[in-house]
Amino acid sequence: MPGRIQNKAALITGAGSGIGLESSLLFAQEGANVLLVDINLAAAEKTLALIKERFPNVKAAAIKADVGKEEDVKGAVDKAVELFGRLDIMFNNAGIMHPEDDNALNTEERIWDLTMQINVKGVWWGCKYAILAMRKNPTDEALGLHTGGSIINTASFVALMGAATPQLAYTASKGAVLAMTRELAMVHAREGIRLNSICPGPLKTPLLMDFLNTQEKRDRRLVHLPMGRFGEAVEVAKGALFLASDDSSYMTGTDFKVDGGLSSCYVTPLGEQALPPPPSLV
Ligand SMILES: NC(=O)c1ccc[n+]([C@@H]2O[C@H](COP(=O)([O-])OP(=O)(O)OC[C@H]3O[C@@H](n4cnc5c(N)ncnc54)[C@H](O)[C@@H]3O)[C@@H](O)[C@H]2O)c1
Repeated sequence: MPGRIQNKAALITGAGSGIGLESSLLFAQEGANVLLVDINLAAAEKTLALIKERFPNVKAAAIKADVGKEEDVKGAVDKAVELFGRLDIMFNNAGIMHPEDDNALNTEERIWDLTMQINVKGVWWGCKYAILAMRKNPTDEALGLHTGGSIINTASFVALMGAATPQLAYTASKGAVLAMTRELAMVHAREGIRLNSICPGPLKTPLLMDFLNTQEKRDRRLVHLPMGRFGEAVEVAKGALFLASDDSSYMTGTDFKVDGGLSSCYVTPLGEQALPPPPSLV
C-alpha cells in the first residue's frame, strides 16, 4: 500500500526533537523523502539514523540550519530541491520558548527580538523559499505528484487563549504565525499552495517540560486540560501528516487545533482519563 504522502518531498525544521522528530519518522513511514533541518545537527542526525534503519526506501538527509537566519533557510530549501528535485511539504516547526520570557514589564528586548527572529522571521523565510520552490514543482500523474504544495506552520494554543503565566514574546510570536499563515494562504490559493497553522496544546516535549520543571508548575496547567493529560508530540505529528497530505486538499488558512479540547473548554471535567495516549514512534 502506498503511504499517505508517497513520493512527496518534505522539509521539516526542528527535526531533532519533539514534534519535528515524530513528524520526520511519520512522514518517512508514509513514503515521503525527508530533509531534516535543525540547529542541533547531532539531534537531526539521530533522527536520520532512525529513518535509515526503519525506512531504507525513502531518501533522507540531515543538515544544520538556524531558521533565524535567512541564508540558512534558503540554503535548506535549495538542498531539498537539489536532493529530491522538488518540495511538496514544508513544515516550519522549529521554535523557541525562552526561559527569560515573561510579562510586559519584565521581558527584555533582547528576549523579545530573539523570539521574533526565530519564531516569526524563521516561519516567514520558510514560507518565502518554499513558495518559490513549490511554484516550480512539475506534475507527475504516474507518481501522484502535482504542482504547488502544503506549508504547515507550527503556532500554539497560546495564540488563541490568554494565560496568567505569561511568556509575552512567545505568545505574540505565535499570534503572528497565525495571522501570517492565514494571509499567505489567501495570496497563494490559486497556485495550488496551501498554508495552514497547527496549534498544539501543551505537550510533553523538552520545550515545555524543561520549563515546567516542578510538579506545582505542571499541576497549575493540568487542572485546565479536559483530557487530564498533556499532549504527546506524536499526536501533533499525526495532525501535521493530515495537513501535509492531499487528504486536506480543501483546507487552507486554517488554525488547526491539536489541543485536547483546551481552547474549547470553560469548565474542566473531573475523573480519571479513559484512554492512554498513542505510543511515540521513537
Ligand atoms: N511543546 C509544547 O507544549 C508546544 C505547544 C505549542 C506549540 N509548540 C511549538 O511546537 C514547535 C516544536 O516544539 P517542540 O515542543 O517539539 O520543541 P523541542 O524543543 O522538543 O524541539 C524543537 C527543535 O527545534 C530546534 N530548534 C530550535 N531553534 C532552532 C533554530 N533557530 N533553527 C533550527 N532549529 C531550531 C531544536 O534544536 C529542537 O530540536 C515549536 O514551534 C513550539 O513553539 C510546542
